[in-house]
Amino acid sequence: MSSEKQTQAESGKTVFVKTYGCQMNVYDSERMVSLLRPLGYRTVENAANADLVILNTCHIREKAAEKLYSDLGRLRRTKAESARDMTVAVAGCVAQAEGEEVAERADIVDIVVGPQAYHRLPEMIARAARRTGAVLDTDFSVEEKFDALARNRDADGVSAFVTVQEGCDKFCTFCVVPYTRGAEISRSAAAIISETRALAQAGVREVTLLGQNVNAWTSPAPAAGYGVKARKDGAWGLGELCRAIARIDGVARIRFTTSHPRDMDEALIAALGEEEKLMPYLHLPVQSGADRILKAMNRGHTAADYFDLIARIRAARPDIALSGDFIVGFPGETNSDFEETLALTEAVCYASAYSFKYSRRPGTPAAILAKQVAEDEKDRRLAVLQALLKEQRDAFCAGLVGETLPVLFERPGRKAGQLIGKTPYLQSVHAYAPDSNVGGIAPVRIEAVTPNALAGELAGAADEGRPARMKAGDAQEPRV
Ligand code: 5AD
Ligand code: SF4
Repeated sequence: MSSEKQTQAESGKTVFVKTYGCQMNVYDSERMVSLLRPLGYRTVENAANADLVILNTCHIREKAAEKLYSDLGRLRRTKAESARDMTVAVAGCVAQAEGEEVAERADIVDIVVGPQAYHRLPEMIARAARRTGAVLDTDFSVEEKFDALARNRDADGVSAFVTVQEGCDKFCTFCVVPYTRGAEISRSAAAIISETRALAQAGVREVTLLGQNVNAWTSPAPAAGYGVKARKDGAWGLGELCRAIARIDGVARIRFTTSHPRDMDEALIAALGEEEKLMPYLHLPVQSGADRILKAMNRGHTAADYFDLIARIRAARPDIALSGDFIVGFPGETNSDFEETLALTEAVCYASAYSFKYSRRPGTPAAILAKQVAEDEKDRRLAVLQALLKEQRDAFCAGLVGETLPVLFERPGRKAGQLIGKTPYLQSVHAYAPDSNVGGIAPVRIEAVTPNALAGELAGAADEGRPARMKAGDAQEPRV
């Protein structure tokens, strides 16, 4: 036995997780790993060394699903060559949407687990070990999942995700999410606050509140009040939740994603303007700049509504950096519709953005629309839009050169002595700084723009950084 194999055998079981798609999946993958740790699993970087391989899939575009099947093909060879009795689990939205097909089409799959059933993963692994056929669980019980995953979470970073909302009721005509992730459901304010407080006590300084439609989050005002004024109707929205989280000791930065323009209410805009801990960065997908297409997409707003919203957000928080999602080549999109998307992009000026070719998803209303746009025309439009968005991103980054920004240092960089952190605008920054700065926020003078990040020079001391880890059993009086 090689010494590497010996070490693995001694240290228990190994898991390899591959995550496709959105932040929701990144978060869910972290949660699954947390859940498996008490069972003796540790993560490995390579499927060949894993007892358990989890592919956490995305279903949003056709290519993402195809990628799963080609990865499963490769995994079959890895499994054949591996000395381990490898268990293969397919998780995420493909599992939810076409779990039975996955199990039939790829016989190496032992477990199919939908996004609402991850907390049952340990028992599914035990059942799969009996090798009596694929184990499927794609039940919907979001609340049960929220509770179970929060109980099992461990925090080991500077920045953490906290799921506050799942699902989507918007039914954009191109999108599978309302079918795969189900209806909008909000987690209770008390549960979110208690999870965030525990994260802060473990040293987390930045929380990103996650939801498919995060700004649709709502809850009756919690009895505890947390020092935040409820709305007239007695409810809390995301604005109130962010204000409560800003009052938690140790939390220095708050972000949230992904927002829908329709749910961007005045209370949230006011919080963005008033709460310094809320970072000046907002991901606000628009998809198209043409009213005709926005209507066909069922987005529920016009281009003018979007402009008006951006103006109100910028009035509240003038330095806000905006990010967006775009789809080119939606069925029926003419060149002149596309020109309107370019005009909207020019007018808004994005700091970053994601853009996609429309992908026809079976079961969605847009899939059966006539006038599907030819693939080469989609390619052309995407290239034009991406060139414009890149120009805007480069200009935004170039505008920061010479400025001194507060950077939250997250981890060591590749080069000795270097740390990697984030600006308030979510760009990565490399700077030489002592390791003790990890978890601290320090002023950094931005010197240059590199292909995927900024380079800067430390321009002062970091703040007090992470609080000393509290010992288990320490009194944890609510601070909010
Ligand atoms: N085709 C292309 N892009 C899509 N998105 C969602 N569904 C599709 C689709 N069928 C994009 C949207 C969304 C992002 C998460 O993915 O831009 O905001
Ligand atoms: Fe999909 Fe639209 Fe819901 Fe976003 S808002 S998840 S694009 S249906």
